[in-house]
Amino acid sequence: MKNIPFNPCHLQHKLQEAVQKAIFKSIGISLIPEISRSKPPQDSDYQTAVAMGLAKEMKKNPIEVGQIVLEAISDPLIRKVELAGPGFINIYLEESTLEALSTHLFAPRPPNPERILIDYSSPNVAKELHVGHLRSTIIGDSLARLFEWLGFEVMKINHIGDFGTQFGMLVTFIVENNLDLDNGRLSDLMEWYRASKVSFDGDPGFKKRAQEMVVRLQSSEEEIHRIWQKILEISRLGFNEIYKVLDVRLLERGESFYQPYLKSVVDLFEKQGLLEISKGAKCVFLPGYKDQNNHPLPLIIQKSDSGYNYATTDLAALKYRIEEDKADRIIYVTDSGQSQHLHMVFDAANKCGYYSPKKTLVEHAPFGLVLNVDGTKMKTRSGEVFRLIDLLKEAVQRAKEILLERYQEDIDEDEIEEMAKILGVNAIKYADLSCVRSKDYVFSFDRMLRFDGNTAAFNLYSYVRIQSILKKCQKEPAPISLAHPTERKLLLALFQFYETIDLVQRDLMPHRIAEYLYHLAETFNEFFRDCRVEGVEEEASRISLLHKTLKAFEACFQILGLKTLTRM
Ligand code: ARG
Repeated sequence: MKNIPFNPCHLQHKLQEAVQKAIFKSIGISLIPEISRSKPPQDSDYQTAVAMGLAKEMKKNPIEVGQIVLEAISDPLIRKVELAGPGFINIYLEESTLEALSTHLFAPRPPNPERILIDYSSPNVAKELHVGHLRSTIIGDSLARLFEWLGFEVMKINHIGDFGTQFGMLVTFIVENNLDLDNGRLSDLMEWYRASKVSFDGDPGFKKRAQEMVVRLQSSEEEIHRIWQKILEISRLGFNEIYKVLDVRLLERGESFYQPYLKSVVDLFEKQGLLEISKGAKCVFLPGYKDQNNHPLPLIIQKSDSGYNYATTDLAALKYRIEEDKADRIIYVTDSGQSQHLHMVFDAANKCGYYSPKKTLVEHAPFGLVLNVDGTKMKTRSGEVFRLIDLLKEAVQRAKEILLERYQEDIDEDEIEEMAKILGVNAIKYADLSCVRSKDYVFSFDRMLRFDGNTAAFNLYSYVRIQSILKKCQKEPAPISLAHPTERKLLLALFQFYETIDLVQRDLMPHRIAEYLYHLAETFNEFFRDCRVEGVEEEASRISLLHKTLKAFEACFQILGLKTLTRM
């Protein structure tokens, strides 16, 4: 990965530079200091603990070091610096510089030459599409949107499970029972899948025929291939229904896509002497992976029956993504249960030499479970794909009931319908994205659909409010000139958008954007409480401030995948 281009509105960056310069000038040490936002009750804007770290290294008094550094700080962005506590440096920003910089807020961004590939959603054909896939879809799509917003080229890859033993089972079952696939629906597929699994586990003859079927499928026998295609088509209809509601579009590149490359990837490991045979299977042993009994855990890349597996496909996929797709950064969004598998794949590819962490950034962005309010694991009743679409429909239905109550008579049915779709889906997405990705998350319709607190509706409501204020104003906007403390606070919050997304592009934690959005909405509401816009002397400047605020809201909504409304 190359360096992220410097944005003129990234205040933390600017302060870092200013303090870095001061440290070098005053004590001749070159380092990039950490700068953090000050939190109330502190009234400074930013602070740094760098003097304390330096003093420790230099074996000097932190207050003395702080004083020396502080005296060397000089930058147009900084109005005042002061020492606090055991050696913190508090920073106060210069308002006229903020005002001048504000013209750059939400200006068009230059494109970024890097290519980011995100592997997300990735359900399995004929198996249940469960809430984990919903999380992967929502989180993955938000990351994709973030990188798009930042001007990167983004490849959104749907690594659908469309190959392997389960298809051997399913196809064998369909052929042997002469089932009518042409009129089949996804629910039929799931049922047949379950039945075929029972046969597979209980009937050795069936098991053998199913395994042979995989080979026939792999050698592209025409009739078998046709059945497989049909199964895919039926599943795709089910998936697409969900994607349409969520407004996500991925490039479908299922496991079968990598089929032609599986043998050569195993050969590559073989040639390099990286394979060991264990219980008849070809394995790669990697340092640091142990099973429950503390024995070395292998990554199996070719089974004893010579079939390839999930790991082989992932090894081939990673190679393809690096060499053919030429991705600079590759992100896998799956539940944390797949963490070990993915890290073994990354390490194996590294050992084999086709992936170098120095050239490509390959990461797993894991997420936790979805829980019911009572703390139990939320599961679709075994194998019911429709539950997921029902979940989305229920959110929309509940949103509609809430809206009907709020509006009583004064709105027409169609408009309510449209609004409910937006609010319901927004609520599902936002509830997920506002939780820390890596933790488990509690699914609650009641909570996600509320109009207060950190919810999609509250944030959207604030956005609609800004629009209605602006509608009443007649004046031409003028450069921002700060008059009131909450006005200053709002402007500062706008700048902090840049720090937030910069952090998220590194740690892939979308909840930071939700947190930011909520802070922005609350700050706007404080401003609205304290500052009149229409008809006051500051109107023209405040119009500009609100225009920028709208842009900040819109950027967050866009990144989080939320749709907006013009009335609420
Ligand atoms: N299909 C898998 C599942 O449902 C997820 C695939 C994730 N991506 C990958 N390259 N392994 O668990």
